[in-house]
Amino acid sequence: MTLQVTKLSGSLGAEIRGIRLTDAGPAEAAKIQSLLLEHLVLFFPGQQMTPDEHIAFGRLFGQLEAHPNLSFSAERPEFFELHATGGQGGIADEWHSDLTCQPEPSIMSILRMAKCPDVGGDTMWANMYKAYDELSPPMQEFCEGLTALHDADPHGHAERTAIHPVVRVHPETGRKSLFVNEHFTRRIVEMSHQESAALLGYLTRWVQSPRFTVRYHWTEGTLAMWDNRCTQHHVLSDFDGDRVIQRVTVMGDKPEAASPPRWKPYIGPLSAASRHDRQLLTHLKTQGARRE
Ligand SMILES: [Fe+2]
Repeated sequence: MTLQVTKLSGSLGAEIRGIRLTDAGPAEAAKIQSLLLEHLVLFFPGQQMTPDEHIAFGRLFGQLEAHPNLSFSAERPEFFELHATGGQGGIADEWHSDLTCQPEPSIMSILRMAKCPDVGGDTMWANMYKAYDELSPPMQEFCEGLTALHDADPHGHAERTAIHPVVRVHPETGRKSLFVNEHFTRRIVEMSHQESAALLGYLTRWVQSPRFTVRYHWTEGTLAMWDNRCTQHHVLSDFDGDRVIQRVTVMGDKPEAASPPRWKPYIGPLSAASRHDRQLLTHLKTQGARRE
């Protein structure tokens, strides 16, 4: 098998030609996996496949999960389809990594563009290794000692929360990456809510720096796969017409911290501002209760 690999930006992303994914087996999956570790997001244009073939391809990379917030059919819980028309509907137009609101966020997403507009509806990805590497050493060291609370508020479930390290270590490459995003991350656990808002505001803007990104213009039948452990993505809601995606997701793992938390969770003194601490308090109490 000879694959043609074309890099799409200086930071991440490659288009791959020379393979029909419905024919892929474990040997091809191993090759694709190593390309994914190198380029973080891969695009395979012109892939025709049925939902069952899509599921079978996904299973080459691990166990698939049902999406907790999107409707799915009982016979294929791992497979979902999202429709958007005229820039409205199922469009993830905020920077995020998939499902960081869960204790074990998805490792990998495998998306096929079933229908797309001629113009608009591109997706952007950003390289979170670079976003970490280009912080100053004091900022890197500070962030490594922190954790953050994530929630499913964007899906109407603010009570579903998880705490993850702000800097995680990729289990396969050993590289450190920034792991906070504007869609799901609510609060730095070890700081006051005001300090947290300032730091999170800075970091979530920083990760969007154009030089960390690639922007992809879709054609129908292109399949993309990306590593959620070291990237974020954002869909552009700038299109007319229909955009239909089909996706499976490889089940997650618990993010490993670059270093253990250096400080305890911080809850400010009881005051009118305590309402900002309520969600963190509830999470800590619930987790404490679960451990007992
Ligand atoms: Fe997403």
